[in-house]
Amino acid sequence: MSHAFIAHGADQFDSLLKLHEALRAAGIPAKYSSSERRADIDAANIDAASLMIVLVSYDSMRSTDVRSQIIRAKKNGMTIIPVRADRTRLTGFIKEFAKDMVHTIEEIEPLMTTAQRAYRQVSPVVSVMNLKGGIGKTTIASQLAAALQAHTRNRVLLIDFDPQYNLTQLFFPGQQADEAIANDRSVISLFEKSRVHQADLTSPADQWATLSTVPFTPAPRAKIAHSLLGGSEAVGRLDIIFGQFEISKYAFSTDTSGLEAVRANFLRSIEYYRSQYDLIVLDTNPNATFLTRCALQATDRVLAPMHTDIYSLRGVRLLNRVINDQTAQDRRPELSVLFNAVERREQSDFEADTRNGVFNEQVGFDLSGKLMSAAIPKSRHFQIKAREDDAPIKRLLPHHGRGGGLRHIRESLIAASVELATVLRQDASA
Ligand SMILES: Nc1ncnc2c1ncn2[C@@H]1O[C@H](COP(=O)(O)OP(=O)(O)OP(=O)(O)O)[C@@H](O)[C@H]1O
Ligand SMILES: [Mg+2]
Repeated sequence: MSHAFIAHGADQFDSLLKLHEALRAAGIPAKYSSSERRADIDAANIDAASLMIVLVSYDSMRSTDVRSQIIRAKKNGMTIIPVRADRTRLTGFIKEFAKDMVHTIEEIEPLMTTAQRAYRQVSPVVSVMNLKGGIGKTTIASQLAAALQAHTRNRVLLIDFDPQYNLTQLFFPGQQADEAIANDRSVISLFEKSRVHQADLTSPADQWATLSTVPFTPAPRAKIAHSLLGGSEAVGRLDIIFGQFEISKYAFSTDTSGLEAVRANFLRSIEYYRSQYDLIVLDTNPNATFLTRCALQATDRVLAPMHTDIYSLRGVRLLNRVINDQTAQDRRPELSVLFNAVERREQSDFEADTRNGVFNEQVGFDLSGKLMSAAIPKSRHFQIKAREDDAPIKRLLPHHGRGGGLRHIRESLIAASVELATVLRQDASA
């Protein structure tokens, strides 16, 4: 997470100071136009911001700077919070923009609650999950994260949360992955103190039967994540934290208090990496385990791929039940269901029935309401084999490859990623 940008008119120093102080107390760094009003600096600060707060007043209403700052933030899809800073009657552009304004500078506490929620939620965590195996979780996690990254140019982190670590192997040759894993530069370091935190430790991966419950400061991003794409301010980045088999040890452990500590470490680690990325995507394992609970508790939205067949209905029914069982109501992730591997011809009867709510009763929840409009086609292009000589990017369809049918695939991935980005933004402002 970066900062809040405050848009303000020229003569609003009291309000600006008050707001700045309150944000600092709430743990939100803030930036605003300096007295020189350098448009280029302001633009860069707006682009890097997590949210915008607009001080609405006589001054700001007449300011062309403020107007263009709001337009820029809107274009970036940023959460914008208007705050009434004086009693002037609203006119023109600001009147339309601030018509739902609820906050005033006098009542700073509710404003900070809204700001904190928006600030925290800008880096959402999405878990790609279905308790059915082989349904396209790993495929969707990787291709959709890549499409979303390309579309938003944000900083996106993939985490391979499946002990089978297919996602990791999709991008990196076995040997390179194994070497990194041997040094704990992998998912286990989110759960236990390891050699990425302190070089002379024994690896928690070598201690199958015991859990390290020592709290630790999460490792800097570059020490744990591997870069897949990008890396500059302009293009954002797509990184991955490798998976590994050894995290299945948590499924076998009977050390309840140890597991509790390990889970708390994991949740704290995720909170930290939220501040380093704009989106975190977890590719999860197909069976309900300790790892499932950890993922759900860290997650804002579950993305469940499903096939257009009756077997998949059972998968989403179970998934919905597990989400309800494993999370508290006030921290329960939302659910989006995405049809994967649909045949390219016209919409099937099954898909149409599902969209029309025919199966809602059978699955026990509003499946038709949770279905994404986009659907991912069935295509041989998704059947990607990691080869030792291929660069990671070659496996990302939104970025690479030509030939039959790729355009259609790319379009469907982009449509799904735009839809996902929209619901995540709605989550943030809810
Ligand atoms: N849209 C698609 N069209 C064609 N093949 C696909 C599609 N999506 C996934 N596949 C293929 O289906 C197989 C299973 O996909 P994937 O590994 O993504 O599923 P998964 O749910 O992650 O499996 P697991 O439960 O084992 O983790 C892979 O061979 C993949 O290439
Ligand atoms: Mg998988």
